[in-house]
Amino acid sequence: MDWGLQNRIAQIIKPTDNRALMLAVDHGYFLGPTEKLEVPRKAISPLLKHCDSLMLTRGVQRTSVNPKFPTPIVLRVSGGSSIIGADLSNEEITVSIKDAIRLNACALAMSIFVGSKYEKQTIVNLGKLVSEAEEFGIPVLAVTAVGKEIGQKDARYLSLACRIAAEQGAHIVKTYYCKNFEKVVESCPVPIIIAGGKKIPERDALELAYNSIKSGAVGVDMGRNIWQSDNPVPMIRAVRAIVHGNSNVNDAFTLYQKLCKEKPVKNSLVKQKIKNIQPKKQNNIQPKKQNNIQPKKQNR
Ligand code: 5RP
Repeated sequence: MDWGLQNRIAQIIKPTDNRALMLAVDHGYFLGPTEKLEVPRKAISPLLKHCDSLMLTRGVQRTSVNPKFPTPIVLRVSGGSSIIGADLSNEEITVSIKDAIRLNACALAMSIFVGSKYEKQTIVNLGKLVSEAEEFGIPVLAVTAVGKEIGQKDARYLSLACRIAAEQGAHIVKTYYCKNFEKVVESCPVPIIIAGGKKIPERDALELAYNSIKSGAVGVDMGRNIWQSDNPVPMIRAVRAIVHGNSNVNDAFTLYQKLCKEKPVKNSLVKQKIKNIQPKKQNNIQPKKQNNIQPKKQNR
């Protein structure tokens, strides 16, 4: 595997523990102003420092994320349908590789809709995207989307969809947790990350994250269960404790409750932290005048 590809994957799946905590905020690409994500910057800013990478569209990246904050970007490059349109599966690639590079994406994300009317189009698009992205050492994350259907999320269906994504060359697959999830992981030769799905009570969402990892997922790419929580920062920190801290559900939920009681960190403090990552004047490491090694005047 090329150095660039390996390095970018390592920004998403941390090599220290082979785990990934992604924050998904790409929902607006087909849902519009989703509840609690109406003002993306407001939702994203306090969470940025707690996730390993951020999954979003180029529009939200450019308008709502501070470019000085070093969070790696997983850029959604598919779209074309809306929740009120005829068919959610009718997606195309909407972002050029040039723009993805300009935006310093560390991976590209797109959806495939296996079993839908447009399955061929989305699967062929995945294959093409992988070919193009690999030329530049950029990994592709394939999302096995299920459209408006929710009855299809069993291990048989998800194994099929994940395997097809991996066969087309996806470097990471994002899918949904289900009963017998080990079977989905076992038959997919690339790392699997799970989506959180619809908002559920915090403890249940932590259990979902825990069970996914126990069954072999390398991490989570959660959205609604974090920023639709009444306490988004405590929630992402509790999810982090599961993903990177090997916490069990009880410990993570206890942490969540404890953090909820603490004073929330004000946005101004987050801004202060961003300010602090500006390169400082490092007077002490400026090369000193080294008079003694200056070539001497040769009077001859
Ligand atoms: C939609 C996506 C979303 O990013 C995904 O659903 C993750 O968000 P959530 O945890 O809210 O389900 O890829 O296709």
